[in-house]
Amino acid sequence: ADPALRAVRGEIVHFLADPAERGPAATEHFPDGLLILRDGRVAECGPAADLLPRLPAGTPVEDRSGRLIMPGFVDTHIHYAQTDVIASHGEQLLAWLEKYTFPAEGRFADPVHAAEVAGFFCDELLRNGTTTAMVFATVHPASVDALFEAAQARRMRLIAGKVLMDRHCPDFLRDTAESGYRESRALIERWHGRDRLLYAVTPRFAPTSTPEQMQAAGRLFAEHPGVYLQSHVAENRGEVDWVARLYPHARSYLDVYERYGQLGPRSVYAHCIWLDDADRARMAATGSAMSFCPTSNLFLGSGLFDLARADALGVRVGLGTDVGGGTSFSMLATLNEAYKVLQMNGQNLPAERAFYLATLGGARSLWLDDRIGSFAAGREADFIVIDPAATPLLARRVAQAETLAERLFVLMMLGDDRCITETWIMGERAAARGATRGEPHP
Ligand code: GUN
Ligand code: ZN
Repeated sequence: ADPALRAVRGEIVHFLADPAERGPAATEHFPDGLLILRDGRVAECGPAADLLPRLPAGTPVEDRSGRLIMPGFVDTHIHYAQTDVIASHGEQLLAWLEKYTFPAEGRFADPVHAAEVAGFFCDELLRNGTTTAMVFATVHPASVDALFEAAQARRMRLIAGKVLMDRHCPDFLRDTAESGYRESRALIERWHGRDRLLYAVTPRFAPTSTPEQMQAAGRLFAEHPGVYLQSHVAENRGEVDWVARLYPHARSYLDVYERYGQLGPRSVYAHCIWLDDADRARMAATGSAMSFCPTSNLFLGSGLFDLARADALGVRVGLGTDVGGGTSFSMLATLNEAYKVLQMNGQNLPAERAFYLATLGGARSLWLDDRIGSFAAGREADFIVIDPAATPLLARRVAQAETLAERLFVLMMLGDDRCITETWIMGERAAARGATRGEPHP
C-alpha cells in the first residue's frame, strides 16, 4: 500500500463551476462519496461504490457517514486585529473606526499581544471551517509577522498585509509613504510565497492615504508580480462623500484606486456597495474582485450589496466576514445574512450558489482556484466535515428537507460553528469539536 494514501468517506458536495452560470451541472454531489488524499492533496473524489474496490488494500478510510464533506470555506475579507472589536455598539463606519477600531489596532504595537491574538484568530477560523482568508493586519510590520507565523504553524493558506495609512488617523497608527513602501517590500521579501502564505499590499482605504502613499501602493503592486492588493471601497455614504472631497479629480471612489494602479488580477475590494455600473465594468475588465460582507454591511448600517449587477457585469465576487465590523467568523452565518441582504434588494440567493461563493467562488476571486476551493484532482486537501443535525432544531428541520438544495439552505439559515465538526488542512485534521462542550482540541 502507498503510505501517503488515505481516504474519507461521507456525503460529498463541491462545485465545478458557478451554479448561476452552469446550473445543476455546476454541483457535484456524491451521497455516499469517497475523498482520496495523497500527500496532502486530492487524489480522487467520487462515489464510494466505484472508488473503494480500487483503493489499494490497507489504505486507511475515515468513516464520516451521515456527515457532509465540503471544501474549506474561503473568507475574502477579515481583520485579525479587530477580533476584540467584534460586537461594539452603536456607530456607523467612520465613528466606529475612531471610537473602537483605531484604539484596538494601537495595541498591536506590542508583539506579544499580536502573537496572542493571531493564534486565537487562526484557531477561530479553523473552528468555523475557514481554511483560507485574506486578512488585514495593522500598520505595524510585526503584526504581519505574528499572523503569518500563526498561519504557518497551522499550515494554512493565508493572504495578509501591513496596513498603509499616513493621514486621517491617530499618530500611533501612522506610517509615511516612504516607510510604508519600505516595510511592505521587506515583508513581501520575507513572506510572499513562503509555504502557503501570500502577501497583500494593504492601503486601508483612500481617505487614510495621501496621494504619495496611494502611488507607492500602486508601485508595490506593480513591482511584485503575484502579490495581492486589498482595500475597502464604497462602503458608507459619508465615506463616499469624503473621498469625493479628497480626490475631486476622480470620476468615482473606485476611479481613485484605478488612477493609482490598484486595480487588476489579485486586487480585492471589500463592500462595493455604492458603485455604479461603470465602476463594476472596470472591476470586471481588470480582474479585480469584490468581497461581499453582509454581516458588516448590516451591523454598520452601510447598505445593501447588489449581487445581480455584479453578476450582470461579470465581476468576480467572494464573501467576507469583515470581523470586527462583521459580527461572525462563521461563513454559514455570513450566508444567512447574505440571503437577507439580497432579499432586501429583491434578489434571490439559491443555496448551491451560496455554498459556491463560500468555496470555489471565493477561491476564484483570489485567483487560487487551481489550488483550493474544490475537490478536483491535485487541489490542496483543505476540507471540512459538517454535521447537518448539530442542534435539535437543525436535526428536526433538516430531516424534513427532501433535496440537497433544501438541506443546504437549512444549513446556511440555521447553521454556525456548531455544525463544523472537523477542519482538515493539507490532508491532516487541524481542528475537531470536542465530545463534551464543543471545545477545539487541535
Ligand atoms: N474602511 C476603512 N477601514 C475599515 C475597517 O477597518 N473596517 C471596515 N468595515 N471598513 C473600513
Ligand atoms: Zn474591512
